[in-house]
Amino acid sequence: MEKIRIGIVGLGRLGKRHAYNLANLVPGANLDAACSPVQAELDWAETELGVPHLFTSFDHMLAHADIDAVWIASSSVYHSAQVLAALDRGLHVFVEKPMGVTPDECDAIECAAVTHSRQVFLIGFVRRFDPSYKYAKELLDKGVIGTPFLVRSQTCDLDEYAEFQLEFVKTGGGIFLDMNVHDIDLARWFIGSEIKEVHAVGGSYVHPGFAELGDADNTVCLATFENGAMAVLSASRTAFHGHDTHTEIVGSKGILKIGTTPRKNRVEIFDVAGARTDCVRDFYERFEEGFIAEAREFVACIRSGRRPEIMPRDGTAATRIGMAMTESFRKGAIIKL
Ligand SMILES: NC(=O)c1ccc[n+]([C@@H]2O[C@H](COP(=O)([O-])OP(=O)(O)OC[C@H]3O[C@@H](n4cnc5c(N)ncnc54)[C@H](O)[C@@H]3O)[C@@H](O)[C@H]2O)c1
Repeated sequence: MEKIRIGIVGLGRLGKRHAYNLANLVPGANLDAACSPVQAELDWAETELGVPHLFTSFDHMLAHADIDAVWIASSSVYHSAQVLAALDRGLHVFVEKPMGVTPDECDAIECAAVTHSRQVFLIGFVRRFDPSYKYAKELLDKGVIGTPFLVRSQTCDLDEYAEFQLEFVKTGGGIFLDMNVHDIDLARWFIGSEIKEVHAVGGSYVHPGFAELGDADNTVCLATFENGAMAVLSASRTAFHGHDTHTEIVGSKGILKIGTTPRKNRVEIFDVAGARTDCVRDFYERFEEGFIAEAREFVACIRSGRRPEIMPRDGTAATRIGMAMTESFRKGAIIKL
C-alpha cells in the first residue's frame, strides 16, 4: 500500500515535535507538505526534515499539495476553520486539542464529520494514548476498583513558562480550555457519564498578567456527573518542580493513581539535600510515547479503514465543559450544562 501523504499546519512548540514524529517514527506515513506563516519555521521543516512542499497559507496547501491527510497543530483559534476546509476537500484530519474554542465551532465540526464519515478524524487527546493512562482504563474496565465515583485530575506547568503562556492564552482559550481540556476528557472517559454541573474558582496568585486577560494562574473546579459521580479538576501555571500531570480514580473497591510523582525516571538521589527524584520538565517529556502512539494510530486508522475510538462528540463535550468552567470562574457561579 502507498504511504499516507500528510501535510502539517503549525510548526511551533508542539508542531515541530509532531512533524519530527510524522517524518521519522510513523510507519506508513510520509510528511509531504508543511504550512506556517513563519518563514523560519518552514526553513526548519526543509532543512531538518527535508519536507518537499512548503506553504505560507493553509488554503494554498489544500489547493496545491498532493496529500491524503492534514495534521493540524496551529494555534487553537484556527482549528475549526482548518478542520472544516480539510474535511470538505476530502482529506483525513488530525486536530490538536481543543477541537474548537466555541461550542458553535465544535457543532459545525461534528456535522462535517458525519457528512465526511469515510474520512478519519482524530482529536489529539494524547493522554488516552499514554501507556499508564491506557493501563488504568483497562483495569477500570475489568472492574479492579469497582464502580468509579470520583476523579481527581490536575495539569500543572512550570512557572518558567508563564511568560510564554501570557502570550499563548490569547489564542489558546484560557486555562480551563487549554489545560484542563485533557482532565475533562479523562474524567468523562473514566466515569463514562456526562458532566452536568461545574463550579470553578481560581486567581492570579503569582502572575497578575493572567487576571488582566480574564484568566488565572491557578484554578480548581468541582464537577458533577449525570450518574452522580464527582470530579475535581485543577490547573496551575506556577509549578516549580516540573510538569506535574496526575490523576486519581476512586472506586467502590479501590483507587487507581496515575503519575502521582512526576518522576523523570526511576533514579532516586540520596545526598546532602535529602532523598529526591528529578521531574519531567514539560508536557512533551511526560507524554512523548503518547504523541508517537496517537500519530501511529491516525495513520493505522487511515490504512485499515478503522475509526478512532475518540469521537467528534468527545471534542465538543470537552470544549463545552471547558467553557462552562471559564464562565463559572468569571461569574463566581455554579453553571449547569
Ligand atoms: N496535546 C497537548 O498536550 C498539547 C500541548 C501543547 C499544545 N497543544 C496544542 O497544539 C496547538 C499548537 O500549540 P503550540 O504550543 O505549538 O503553539 P505555538 O504558538 O508554539 O505554535 C502555533 C503554530 O501555529 C502557527 N500559526 C499561527 N497562525 C496560523 C495560521 N493562520 N495558519 C497556519 N498556521 C498558523 C504558528 O506559526 C506556529 O507554528 C494548540 O492548539 C495547542 O492547544 C496541545
